[in-house]
Amino acid sequence: MAEIAFRAMTPADADDVSEIEIRSFALPWKRDTFYEVVQRENTAYVVGELDGKVIAYAGAWLAFGEAEVMSVAVAPEFRGRGYGRKLFAELLKICRERGATAVTLEVRPSNTAAIKIYESFGLKSVGRRPKYYVDNGEDALIMWNTNLKD
Ligand SMILES: CC(C)(COP(=O)(O)OP(=O)(O)OC[C@H]1O[C@@H](n2cnc3c(N)ncnc32)[C@H](O)[C@@H]1OP(=O)(O)O)[C@@H](O)C(=O)NCCC(=O)NCCS
Repeated sequence: MAEIAFRAMTPADADDVSEIEIRSFALPWKRDTFYEVVQRENTAYVVGELDGKVIAYAGAWLAFGEAEVMSVAVAPEFRGRGYGRKLFAELLKICRERGATAVTLEVRPSNTAAIKIYESFGLKSVGRRPKYYVDNGEDALIMWNTNLKD
């Protein structure tokens, strides 16, 4: 199996990332949103490549020592091979390097694979936002790890 390689996302990745985003989320972010947010100082975005092709990406917003995870996705044909876990580990590493000591995110309760990954990095469900997702009215679980270690 090829080894996944991570690097910082740049505006030039917006098309590739958007293509995966559309295939991954019921409520996808627009291509121009990625183009713009990766250039902000308070964001950390990473892409994962196999043989030079972007197959995964993740990103967070950083403020006051907290990282708020905005995106985590692996292209559908590459899921279930451990890349999602490696991707999230890489994102957390970058967030810690940038001074984050806590991480939070929202996730659908039905998203077993994502929740497994987050729990393995110490995130715990601390509450729900009722009917958060407008496509199907699903709640969001709110997860936190307030003690990000190296
Ligand atoms: C969530 C996502 C990033 C996981 O990526 P992935 O590469 O498939 O994940 P991994 O292969 O690293 O697997 C992570 C864990 O989930 C499990 N898993 C993978 N696919 C699964 C599935 N369909 N159902 C249940 N568990 C699953 C794996 O067994 C593994 O658990 P384990 O270590 O206990 O065995 C990917 O499914 C995805 O992009 N989904 C669409 C976008 C999304 O929902 N993002 C998260 C939003 S909060």
